Amino acid sequence: MTSAEIRRAFIDFFREKEHRVVRSAPVVPQDDPTLLFTNAGMNQFKDVFLGTGTRDYSRAVDSQKCIRVSGKHNDLEEVGPSPNHHTFFEMLGNWSFGDYYKAEAIRWAWELMTEVYGLPKDKLHATVFTEDDEAHQLWQSETDIEPAHISRHGHKDNFWEMGEVGPCGPCTEIHIDLGKPAPGKVSPPDDGPNTDSGRFVELWNLVFIQYHRDAKGNLHDLPAKHVDTGAGLERITRVLQGVDSNYDTDLFQPLIQTVGEISGVPYGEGGILTPHRVIADHVRALSFAIADGALPGNEGRGYVLRRILRRAARFSRELGITDPFLADLVPVLVDVMGGHFDELKQRMAHIQTVLKAEEESFARTLDRGLEHFALITETLPEGGTISGEEAFKLYDTFGFPLDLTELMARERGYVVDNAGFQRAMEQAREKSRGGAKFQAADTTFDTVTQGDHSEFVGYKELTVRTSIRKARLIEGEWSDANDPDVHIKPELEVVLAMTPFYAESGGQLADTGMIHGKQLHLDVIDVQHDGDLRIHRCRAVRLPDKQGQWPDPIEAQVDTLRRRNILPHHTATHLLQAALRQILGDHVTQAGSRVGPDYMTFDFTHFERVTEEQRREAEAMVNAWIRENHPVSEEFTTIEEAKQRGAMALFGEKYGDVVRMIKIGEDERHLVSAELCGGTHADRTGDLMMFRIEGEAAVSAGVRRMTCTAGEAAWAKSMEERESLSRITELVGSRGSDPADKVEKLIGRTREMEKEIERLKKAALQGAVRFVEDWGEELDAPDDLEGGALLVSGVYEAAGDRDALQAAGDKIIDDLKKAKREGVGIVGAAVNDSFMMVCVVTPGLVKRGMKAGAIVGELAKKAGGGGGGKPNFATAGSRQIDRADALLRNRPEVRKVVQSHL
Ligand code: ALA
Repeated sequence: MTSAEIRRAFIDFFREKEHRVVRSAPVVPQDDPTLLFTNAGMNQFKDVFLGTGTRDYSRAVDSQKCIRVSGKHNDLEEVGPSPNHHTFFEMLGNWSFGDYYKAEAIRWAWELMTEVYGLPKDKLHATVFTEDDEAHQLWQSETDIEPAHISRHGHKDNFWEMGEVGPCGPCTEIHIDLGKPAPGKVSPPDDGPNTDSGRFVELWNLVFIQYHRDAKGNLHDLPAKHVDTGAGLERITRVLQGVDSNYDTDLFQPLIQTVGEISGVPYGEGGILTPHRVIADHVRALSFAIADGALPGNEGRGYVLRRILRRAARFSRELGITDPFLADLVPVLVDVMGGHFDELKQRMAHIQTVLKAEEESFARTLDRGLEHFALITETLPEGGTISGEEAFKLYDTFGFPLDLTELMARERGYVVDNAGFQRAMEQAREKSRGGAKFQAADTTFDTVTQGDHSEFVGYKELTVRTSIRKARLIEGEWSDANDPDVHIKPELEVVLAMTPFYAESGGQLADTGMIHGKQLHLDVIDVQHDGDLRIHRCRAVRLPDKQGQWPDPIEAQVDTLRRRNILPHHTATHLLQAALRQILGDHVTQAGSRVGPDYMTFDFTHFERVTEEQRREAEAMVNAWIRENHPVSEEFTTIEEAKQRGAMALFGEKYGDVVRMIKIGEDERHLVSAELCGGTHADRTGDLMMFRIEGEAAVSAGVRRMTCTAGEAAWAKSMEERESLSRITELVGSRGSDPADKVEKLIGRTREMEKEIERLKKAALQGAVRFVEDWGEELDAPDDLEGGALLVSGVYEAAGDRDALQAAGDKIIDDLKKAKREGVGIVGAAVNDSFMMVCVVTPGLVKRGMKAGAIVGELAKKAGGGGGGKPNFATAGSRQIDRADALLRNRPEVRKVVQSHL
């Protein structure tokens, strides 16, 4: 069976058993800031298990795209050397939401494994949780598994938890006996599932979600019991295709073969496996993440992607590939997986551009890394140690693997603090581990009133009378609210029956406002979605005297002014997108936005700077639409229908069955813009008054960001500018004429003055370095060296920069020539944050073999620095300013060094 057939068979099997086939959620989670990447099939159903969300089906099946790059068992460094570790993988899964339970889950899993996939029954093993007699019994009654192949295991292996808090339950797993241990491992006589021999491979995990773990660690029964299963497509494919590693399956081989062709190093030749595997694995993770809207960057998710890309690029260098080439693998990946995941096909060009740009910038980084290495070692004494932090910086910022740093260090006689490197690495891991697990909100709300909740009425209403359904105290004490001596008021979260408050989503910030009732005044400071819940975060200004005694009804009131300033900004993002697509082209799609009362940002895919002219054109186009005063309307439709009518959908967004389309324009057939969107909008474009693009910049390779204002905010910006212009007019005294002309003149004059100052400084310098005969003032008086030559040396405090110091060196040579003397000059000065030294030697001494470079090099080294140059002129430096300064003032010491070179 091909991997595509294996995937299809899984989905079809459960489709026939009345499961709804759902799409994989994006690999970049949309509304879960605690999760870096989607890492299990059940992520998109988290709210159902937690009881905060519902679906209109109770059975589901899918193949979920997952990325796991952090956590105990997902060390990035293991991917490649290990035959079955991946950053990206597909998790096949079937779900029951309060529908069927253990018996069906077990029976169907067995049926699929043995009858559809035809796996040999005598090689399959089942593990169950120690305390789960029911599952143990069901394996015997529902299947014909060999009873001796059922084993019980503890919490670690057979109890699955979503995170520290949240739904969890016992699980049962199906393992296959491959008959032999992994290479280099031994299989003990009583070998079985969950040993580290590698002989038994886990294929499928069936989790019976029946508990909720609260913040104190206690388990509570859930109102409904659910099934959550996960089977790795790569592993099943490996077993069904009868190969030794996941990388030998048809999921990876086309990629690996292409890597072999491009590099000229065939997979496996001379035992070389790891680079091909790493590249094939990483290009999958990167392509899927980029297709879903993620981008390499410096933080969180972007940081993880950047590390993955650099690791792939580093391994490509091991195969002798130095030019960017990951983009060339994308068409191969699209061939393998684009059939099931059409986003890969649609976003192919974007993925390739991002990969190429990032690889190119990495190549430049690598060059800078070599320079950085030189800088670190410049001031290092012989046999010195490169610190762990420096080695990690080379790794992290410049992509140098530790062994490369060690090799380069060894060649130059240095050592590397390996332990320090590991410590720095661990700290960085902590940083990227941050979001590895769910921080499932503890759902212990107090029920205030019964009934439906969270109905959003805020498209039309801004004030409603309604009831509090649920509430919980998050911070502080209840009694603090009414205590005049307490200034930090308690914070609560409440859920309302009906709400006019927009919860943050689609880039639009949450509404703020207040909730009040009898003895109650809450300031609403934020509103967030959690499944079907709209949770209002509030600061209590006044609470009922008795804790928990909530008034009913209450009034919920959105801050109208603030909302009124948000509306034009949201509508402006739609207009801007439409304008940019007309001006720059159809490749422009939204990659993110921030819509607030004060300004909006709009991120979009585009690969070069937007020119001043294009910017003006976009601004003018949007302002024309504003003047044309088009109506803005909403329509509810299906996603297919909307897409057919050309509506723009968000990058990597997951949509429900019914979608809301925002249309701008009078004429249905020639709309200015049509976009799927849940946000709040102006009624007509005229409400925007005016639109300004305030700035444009790169966010990352292939993505630009425009910062804009509309409505009152745009007006306020214009007023600010007018103020500032009148101040300039006043300052430059240009009333009646264009102040820019006056400013231009002023700048011209300043430049001339700067030149004049430079000239005067030089002249003063020449004057200060007087003839050798009466040197004394700035430097120590010249000294006779043995053999009749003169030594002029010292700290030259008047030198402000490199040029001045070099001029002083030249001047010494001139003076010595005029005085018809042979000699050596050494002058030093603190320049910026290091101490610089210049050494000059007259031609006669050069002929006798004296070398300025050697002299100054030796001196600088004594001061913890280094440098060199030509025999007649050389420079050196040291970061240790005080040490170098003292050395150069120590005439006997300098003399000794110079003398030794004569
Ligand atoms: N959620 C379960 C897992 O990730 C199926 O293994």
